[in-house]
Amino acid sequence: MQKLIINGGKKLCGEIRTQGSKNAALPIMAAAVLCGEKVVLHNCPKISDVYSAMRILTYLGCKASFDGNTAVINSENISCSEISEELMREMRSSIFFLGAVLGRTGRCRLSLPGGCDLGPRPVDIHLSALRKMGVRIKEEYGGLDCSVEKKLTGAKIALSFPSVGATENIILAAVLAEGTTVISNAAREPEIADLADFLNRCGAKIHGAGGSRITINGVKQLHGCEYEIMPDRIACATYLACTASAGGELIVTDCRPSDMENILPVFEQMGCIVHALDSKIFFSAKYPLHAVAPIRTMVYPGFPTDAQAFVMAALCRAKGTSVFVENIFENRYKHVGGLTRMGADILVEGKVAVIEGTPRLYGVKTEAPDLRGGAGLVTAALAAEGTSEISAVHHIDRGYEEIEKVLTSVGADIKRI
Ligand code: EPZ
Repeated sequence: MQKLIINGGKKLCGEIRTQGSKNAALPIMAAAVLCGEKVVLHNCPKISDVYSAMRILTYLGCKASFDGNTAVINSENISCSEISEELMREMRSSIFFLGAVLGRTGRCRLSLPGGCDLGPRPVDIHLSALRKMGVRIKEEYGGLDCSVEKKLTGAKIALSFPSVGATENIILAAVLAEGTTVISNAAREPEIADLADFLNRCGAKIHGAGGSRITINGVKQLHGCEYEIMPDRIACATYLACTASAGGELIVTDCRPSDMENILPVFEQMGCIVHALDSKIFFSAKYPLHAVAPIRTMVYPGFPTDAQAFVMAALCRAKGTSVFVENIFENRYKHVGGLTRMGADILVEGKVAVIEGTPRLYGVKTEAPDLRGGAGLVTAALAAEGTSEISAVHHIDRGYEEIEKVLTSVGADIKRI
């Protein structure tokens, strides 16, 4: 089990390049199954969730290789429409493969996904939408056996909740279906527009992605393409939070501030200086930070649930009281235990977390509870006095490309053992 050893108290200073987006790369890699030809994906992050997706693609019969940050996937010969339990267990996002494999083969068997346990991760919205498109789904002992008579048929689908994964799964199932699919109350996250842009470049006919009403006109087949994955807005925000927490100055390049209009103002409320250009952010933080107005996590374009943990960590030493309301996941405060052991003063009541700023944090031995919670513990450890040891780093490696190298490059004292 690897650990990160962090000696806190060092200000950050320097320039960081934003990695490609995990939450865009994963559905786009699943979408490659639909193309039947070679697909070249640039700016693909080197993270374990992407490696898991590559393993699933290979298991399905695709040729998949990775060179630097470029993934090459050829799905000409899909030989299987079943995804093994242990591959599905590796990450929650494998559920996207359901829509893609169904769209390509008309059949798919898989077990219900694993991933971070942020509370129960139901897929009811995914399944009720696919049933409307003519999919017969047998749910038995934690597995799904899905098939369609002839082809998937387009349908009008109103989502009960703007689920990101369900929106993406429906798009994947609809691009090769008979007729037109209209999704209302669709999720509006930028990663969905990136998936649609990729598929349209492969010959799909998708309109309105990024908005709450998406129309997909089914086409006969797709072809391959070359595509550049969008920047990871959550990874970018993580490194801003690390700088806010430890103090210092950061230039972040190859990012897309227009995806972050719900996050950047929070750093300004803390007292940080944020100067955003179209693909670059100049950021500086002076201690002490100020507490901010209550933060409610919402679907896009609201404040993203994925940023809650590390923004909370940056606020642990801010003067005053900050409040979070976690509206998206039931169990997304698992990082609070580690933060309070570092000396943070946080009270959690259900969805609400109240943070009283304390002047100092202390290094401790702790464990990453999940992907973004782990990033939150790193964010706080950079500001803590003394040495912190964060184990279960595999959670963090699911979504961050070489986090210790990135932070070392801007002056942090952090090592992986
Ligand atoms: C995506 O997860 C992201 N993952 C998550 O990022 C992100 O937190 C989430 O969207 C919200 O933005 C990827 O894109 C790979 P949802 P997803 O379906 O699709 C409930 C990270 O840290 N729900 O929008 O699973 C669900 O339980 C990860 O990078 C149902 O009830 O999110 C949750 O409470 C974590 N039934 C809420 O909706 C369903 O059928 C949001 O889920 C589907 C979802």
